[in-house]
Amino acid sequence: MSNRPMRVIVFASQKGGSGKTTLCGHLAVQAQLTGYGPVALIDTDPQGSLAHWANDRASGQPAHIELDLANLRAGLMQARTAGYKLVCVDTPPLLTREISKAISFADIVVMPTRPSPHDIRSVGVTVDMVEWHSKPMIFVINGATPRARITSDAAVALSQHGTVAPGFIHNRVDYAASMIDGRTVMEVKPDGASAREISTVWEYLADRMNRMDEVLNGIPDPQDQSRATTNLNALRRPSQGFGRRQVNA
Ligand SMILES: Nc1ncnc2c1ncn2[C@@H]1O[C@H](COP(=O)(O)OP(=O)(O)O)[C@@H](O)[C@H]1O
Ligand SMILES: [Mg+2]
Repeated sequence: MSNRPMRVIVFASQKGGSGKTTLCGHLAVQAQLTGYGPVALIDTDPQGSLAHWANDRASGQPAHIELDLANLRAGLMQARTAGYKLVCVDTPPLLTREISKAISFADIVVMPTRPSPHDIRSVGVTVDMVEWHSKPMIFVINGATPRARITSDAAVALSQHGTVAPGFIHNRVDYAASMIDGRTVMEVKPDGASAREISTVWEYLADRMNRMDEVLNGIPDPQDQSRATTNLNALRRPSQGFGRRQVNA
């Protein structure tokens, strides 16, 4: 659907090392590879890890938009005018004001979370921020150990706070190694297990964004209540896996 509006995915979590930069880069490339592009990347972390990685990429795709956080609004407007369909925004850990500002521009916030009690306990601040901005939020479990009970326990615990993407990203050295020279697991080993994991998470995100577009397309005719209602329900209902939104009493 080439006339769809540009979407902005912000990767956020207060916790450093949860996988924001890794997933931002990988999912942006997967989006580009699967025809959702053109895709652009914005790195708002002063450490600049994503920017370095993007500049190392031989293809120059996804495009890297270099800007200060203060210019994020203008940068996103320029990206929209230039015809980008997706912008993936990486954020720093800990810097609450900066993270909050980036979230304010998001269509979807992706919160990578490692399946450890420590990490799960720390999601509250970011969840509060996302809820304050009333943005859809998706947890992606990252760094999972195969067959570890703690992973499914983590998914259940996180589902109390919001939607959990189907499929886990396991702890594999190729996620880190591929990024050393500006690549991704899909480009190093397209048929590998890691590439499949990224594909599963991306398909879920793409599905969510497509359903947002359906809702928008359903809105113009106020007489057609049935269509608008159906579309809103489609947006609320996760399509598969244990993604679910539980409303706390
Ligand atoms: N699924 C994974 N398997 C192996 N290493 C990972 C995985 N996800 C992230 N890493 C590594 O963990 C470190 C922190 O990840 P990063 O994406 O930089 O986190 P953040 O941006 O949230 O601080 C990096 O060295 C990265 O290569
Ligand atoms: Mg980072």
